[in-house]
Amino acid sequence: MEAAPAFQVPRDPIGCPSMEAVSSASSLQDLESRINGCLACPLGPGRIRFVFGEGNPKARMMFIGEGPGRDEDLQGRPFVGKAGELLDKMIGALGYQREDVYIANVVKCRPPDNRTPTPQEAQACLRYLRKQIELISPGVIVALGATPLRELLGVTTGITRIRGQWQRLDGIPVMPTFHPAYVLRQYTQDVRRAVWMDLQAAKIWLDEHP
Ligand code: URA
Repeated sequence: MEAAPAFQVPRDPIGCPSMEAVSSASSLQDLESRINGCLACPLGPGRIRFVFGEGNPKARMMFIGEGPGRDEDLQGRPFVGKAGELLDKMIGALGYQREDVYIANVVKCRPPDNRTPTPQEAQACLRYLRKQIELISPGVIVALGATPLRELLGVTTGITRIRGQWQRLDGIPVMPTFHPAYVLRQYTQDVRRAVWMDLQAAKIWLDEHP
């Protein structure tokens, strides 16, 4: 059997939006329309829907996950499966609604079998996430799991060790916590309490820095 041809990054501005097209986007909507045909990494051709992110464009709290799973790929919305149900509960417990916060992922297209995105895939997509962060300008970011920490901040310490310890991204405080999918797998009181403490710390920071 012949090997599949190696993935080639397209040269056209729809398949591979230029840095200029990304950096000059004037709003989230504008950005989404410029990038939602992206094929800049091998995940693009395999997606059903591009999962840009959603929520309040002026959110003070922004959640960043890893990448879309099956439900998200089908619906084109972040965190709508089982992990999303738990995230919604966490957001509600903080006194917010989903519409108050912003939810995005490191990669916008589903990795096959829900595997962790490769560093190349994450890096190809990161400029989109960075622009989202710039446009939203949140007061605090909650990093869900190790992938956003590694890709956005270059922090490779395990999430179990680093959760609850403030990080910074371009001056924005970042609170690392467990990914909701991990919480569902390790549904212990300790894990749930840890996440709750991390989220409360993020909320308290916002309340103290209006
Ligand atoms: N897991 C993620 O990291 N992101 C989603 O959107 C859904 C599940």
